[in-house]
Amino acid sequence: MHSIINAREKIYCLIQYHIPHGMIIMEPEQELMRIGVSLPDNLLDRFDEILAKRGYSSRSEGIRDAIRSYIRYYEWTSEVKGERIGVISLTYNHEQHGLVDALADAQHEHLDVIRSSMHIHVDKRTCLEIIALHGDVEDLKGVAESLMALKGVEHLKLTTISTIK
Ligand code: NI
Repeated sequence: MHSIINAREKIYCLIQYHIPHGMIIMEPEQELMRIGVSLPDNLLDRFDEILAKRGYSSRSEGIRDAIRSYIRYYEWTSEVKGERIGVISLTYNHEQHGLVDALADAQHEHLDVIRSSMHIHVDKRTCLEIIALHGDVEDLKGVAESLMALKGVEHLKLTTISTIK
């Protein structure tokens, strides 16, 4: 484990928030505090590789951007209401005991909103599943959360689009 930040300091950065139509406004934000975070080595190594490729000058800046993206995604999924078409993409380790059956069971429980799914064998252990849904966004989020909760599901993303013309 690496401890990546461990003293306190004040920094200035930008806060981003949404206005209707998806435009992002950036404006100066207040002082922030230093925090301590522990991460598994392999996760931090992969993060550092991406930062290097993208030309980040510091790990802190990369972490700030990652947190902003996380907040933006969460706020976006909280703001969306009503009937939507959705796509869930998820990867998982199919060698995880019981997971394949659990994923199938979870999808069979949501036949009212799941329209179709596609399975792609990515490599020897990893599978990608793409699930198309249609219904109230709260139900779509419920499906996403029930799948995310299954042990062995590694990455999951729900995106939705409006059905209003
Ligand atoms: Ni597969």
